[in-house]
This record gives sequence, structure tokens and C-alpha cells, in this order.
Amino acid sequence: MKRKKLKKIWIIIAVVLVAVLAYPCFVTVQIVTHGYGIGSVFKIVTTGIKDQVLESSYSKTLEEALKNSDFDKENVDNYLTIEYHEKKNFIKRINNLISKGYSESDINLINEKISDTVVEELYDHELIKDIANYLEFDYFKSENLFRYIDYYYGDYEEAVLYVNIGLDKEFYEDANIVTEFSTTVLANKYNKLDETFEPNNITQIKSSCSVGDEYLSKEAQVAFEDMCDAALNDDMHILANSAYRSYENQQEVYDTYFNLYGQNYVDNYVALPGYSEHQTGLALDVKARDYNTFRNSPEYEWMLENSYKYGFILRYPADKQDITGYKNEAWHFRYVGKEIAKYIYENDITYDEYYAIFLDK
Ligand code: DAL
Ligand code: ZN
Repeated sequence: MKRKKLKKIWIIIAVVLVAVLAYPCFVTVQIVTHGYGIGSVFKIVTTGIKDQVLESSYSKTLEEALKNSDFDKENVDNYLTIEYHEKKNFIKRINNLISKGYSESDINLINEKISDTVVEELYDHELIKDIANYLEFDYFKSENLFRYIDYYYGDYEEAVLYVNIGLDKEFYEDANIVTEFSTTVLANKYNKLDETFEPNNITQIKSSCSVGDEYLSKEAQVAFEDMCDAALNDDMHILANSAYRSYENQQEVYDTYFNLYGQNYVDNYVALPGYSEHQTGLALDVKARDYNTFRNSPEYEWMLENSYKYGFILRYPADKQDITGYKNEAWHFRYVGKEIAKYIYENDITYDEYYAIFLDK
């Protein structure tokens, strides 16, 4: 009887011992099969976050945090949700953003879209509660973040788009200098063509489509002649009145109009040299053969409806002066290629907007 009791005790001890020894192995297997390295097991167990960790899916951010001296137990839930990025001081960055009050989804967006330098500026800036609203646009530019916030007046899309165009600045204030020709080149009051900028392959427009000797860059010249011929089939007489103008020519045009009509006129209708699309060889002023005022001609209506099919857009539409910097010019068309022209026509936007949305990388 006594021996039997002793045996039972030994069995219990053995079972307990096996259980005690097996438990850590069991936990280790659980954590490792969850995706964590063997090196993280000890820290997970000793910091008492095992259950929290096992309840969530594997997080590389947490795994990196566990190895890092900036690890903060208070932030484990956040580490579990925030996507990992290979960045210097990543865990410290997350801790800083959490302590500022940014949510996990904000932090994910910040990590994805904001440059390291601007993220550091966020630490000293008050919490931007609505930051996600700026970050959602593909054309969001990290270096413009604080300008968006200063400019915002109730519409996030406009804040991002218009600041990217430059509308929060004075005209001509630190304009970008453009030296390279392309059919999508942008010249406006924020983008200045260098004095030496010249279009590719300047070609004369045939005399039947032109008032005098006028030139465009080859692709635009071919497209313009196609359009002019097509218009003629509809009995419309569209002529190039002033196409390519060099930097010096533009100065002459500017001075002439300034002397005739004064500062206010040129501010609204004539570009300063370097800021004119005419220097790109892609823009031209048109004229209807039998009319003095293009706006009153049937050719104007024809151009409004058809020019996009040949790759041209009305560059300074009515009611867009706040964006383009110029009052409506019924006669000024710009070649941008068929695809872009169609998009602009269908979406009723300016080229400045199109450029900021799709081309300004
Ligand atoms: N009239 C346009 C704005 C120009 O001078 O380029
Ligand atoms: Zn013009």
C-alpha cells in the first residue's frame, strides 16, 4: 500500500516536471510558427506580451522593435499594425509619431509618402489631425506639406493641386527654370523657359494655313496643318497668326503691348519673355480669314469643338485666370498631343492642372 502511494507520487512529479519543461518549448513553437525568429521569443515572453502577439498576425515592425533599444512596451499594439519600412531609426520615428498623437493609419501613410526630413519637422509641429486628407492624392509632394496646410481653405484636393502649381506664391517668385524641350513642356508664370531654350525642329507652317512666315516645332506644325486642312473641309479658314516667338521676339511683343495698352493689359494678356508658351514652338495665336475678331467667328466655335482631335487645347479659357494667370484668350492654342488634349477637353481643366496631376513628378 505504501509502495503504491509512493509510485503515484513519483508519477505526478514526473508529469509536472515534463509539463514544466515542455511548456517553454510549446510557447516557443507557438511564437516561432507565428513567424517570429527564435531570438524574439525570450523578449516576447519576458515583456508579457505573448498573448497580445499570438492574437495578432505576424508583424515585422514588432520584430524589429523587439531588437531595438527604442522598444516601448506601451506601443506594442501600434507596432503590431504599423507596416514595416526599411528606414533609419524607424522605431524611434514610430514612437515619436505615436506620442504626437498620430494614428496607426496616419503613420502608415506618413511612412509611405513623407520624406525623412519632413517627418522630422512633424515632431516639432503640432499634430496635423487631418494629415491623411492631404496624403491621399498621388500628386502629394512631401516638401509642400506645410504650404498645403497654410493654403487650405476647405478643399483638400485644391490645396494640394494649386500649391503644386504654385498658386500660393507670387507670380514669377522662384520660378522653375526649364531648359529641356518636350511636347509636354510647361511654360507659365511659375515655369520659366531659359533664355537659350529653343524648340526642336522648328518648321514653317504652309502658306495656305498661315498669315505670314510662321513656325512651329515639327510635331505641332504637322498637327496644325492637319487641323487647318480638316477645318477647310468644313469651310472654316483657320490661319496661324503668331506661332513660335524667340525670347527676344517675346520681349518685342511685350514692349509693344505695354507701350500701347499699359501694365494692366500685359499682366493679363502678354507673357514676359521666358514665360511665354510661344517660345516653346508648341503654341500659336490663330485667326479666322474673314473676321477681325476670332471670338466672333464660326472658326472659334469649330476650334472649341474640334481642336482637341488634332492635339490642341484652348490654353487660357474663361474663368480660369486664377489658375492660368491670364484672362481668356480665344485665339491662343497649345499643342499637347491628342491624348492629353482629349483628357483636358473632356474634363474641362487647364494644362497647368493636367501637368500638376500627371506630369510633374
Ligand atoms: N498671350 C500669351 C499669354 C503669351 O504672351 O504667351
Ligand atoms: Zn498667344
